[in-house]
Amino acid sequence: MSGGSVPDSLLVTGIGELGLEGGPAALLIAGGQVAWSGPADRLPEQAGGERVDVGGRAVIPGFVDSHTHLVFAGQRAAEWEARMAGRPYAAGGILTTVRATRDATESQLADRTRRLAAEALRSGTTTLEVKSGYCLEPAGEERMLRVASGFTAETTFLGAHVVAPEYAGRTDDYVELVAGEMLARCAPLARWADVFCEERGAFDADQSRHVLRAAAAAGLGLRVHGNQLGPGPGAGLAVEMAAASVDHCTHLSAGDVEALAGSGTVATLLPGAEFSTRSPYPDARRLLDAGARVALATDCNPGTSFTTSMPLVVALAVREMRMTLAEALDAATAGGAAALRRDDIGGLSPGQRADLVVLEAPTAAWLGYRPGVDLVRAVVRGGQLAAGSWPGRGAAGIA
Ligand code: NIG
Ligand code: FE
Repeated sequence: MSGGSVPDSLLVTGIGELGLEGGPAALLIAGGQVAWSGPADRLPEQAGGERVDVGGRAVIPGFVDSHTHLVFAGQRAAEWEARMAGRPYAAGGILTTVRATRDATESQLADRTRRLAAEALRSGTTTLEVKSGYCLEPAGEERMLRVASGFTAETTFLGAHVVAPEYAGRTDDYVELVAGEMLARCAPLARWADVFCEERGAFDADQSRHVLRAAAAAGLGLRVHGNQLGPGPGAGLAVEMAAASVDHCTHLSAGDVEALAGSGTVATLLPGAEFSTRSPYPDARRLLDAGARVALATDCNPGTSFTTSMPLVVALAVREMRMTLAEALDAATAGGAAALRRDDIGGLSPGQRADLVVLEAPTAAWLGYRPGVDLVRAVVRGGQLAAGSWPGRGAAGIA
């Protein structure tokens, strides 16, 4: 690296904390990737290239939000208000959003998704997974995935979200539609398939397995919504099918925890959903102590968790789920990447994509210490400033 400038490079210095390593640290970006990161006094000799001094601010990897339902129309604030007044969450509200989403045009859906994706980026999310699941018929699900594909490569077919209203009382027929014609139309636009699998209130183990098998045969990776509404077969099925992730995990048995710990399936926790449905939080400590891989994501959707904020999710995980800040930050970055089976994102090691967040804070602990405060100063994606601004020459240091 010595002896001449690195083309297209940017050297970030004055980092107060890098990931969770104390500073001062530095990071060299070249060709959109991290070329070097570590303590400033070990920075290899390097001439030329642009430089920016972040004045003691903390730098963390960009958040990997591995679970969102970002394509939808309408809103359900009244449902939220009713829940806050004591009504429990039931998955039936999904059909309210199905009606609105079916009625929306593709460009209306794309406009809404664009605004939400921009909101997520501004709060530090540099990779988003986005699901279908609010049209529940072949052309509409395909339309949702076309919209999602405009914003991310991590697209997920969720035809098995709930039973389409036309199929009420005929769940098995709906499952055939999902695993047949709907999957055939959607598979070219999706990287993943997901099913909402519960003992009651969604698809049972056999129905879910049928959809997942068909999706795997069509070349899709697998994910499961499971154990959200109560104890159930979701986590076990995810492990059985070698799914990349089982998401929610609010009600896990000891056997589920053990199975997850001995598997390559990530347990993705979505505390925004518990927060906004006033439900008990999942026990992250139990999963971590057993050795399971844990991810944190927003579950952004108009029903159970209408937030794009990974900083909120991190704060909730530390405050309510017995995770340390280090565990929560890891779960929101590298854990999310693992849940998407990606190793090019979620960290700041050489060779990884230069996706990072400069915090308006001296340490990442401030994400929990200053809840609800926007601490995202700059967001860099693929080595380019994507949101916010660099502290810049002459800006006050943070310490
Ligand atoms: O992840 N669990 C199922 N699906 C969503 C809820 C979607 C909705 O209520 O619109 C979830 O929480
Ligand atoms: Fe979800």
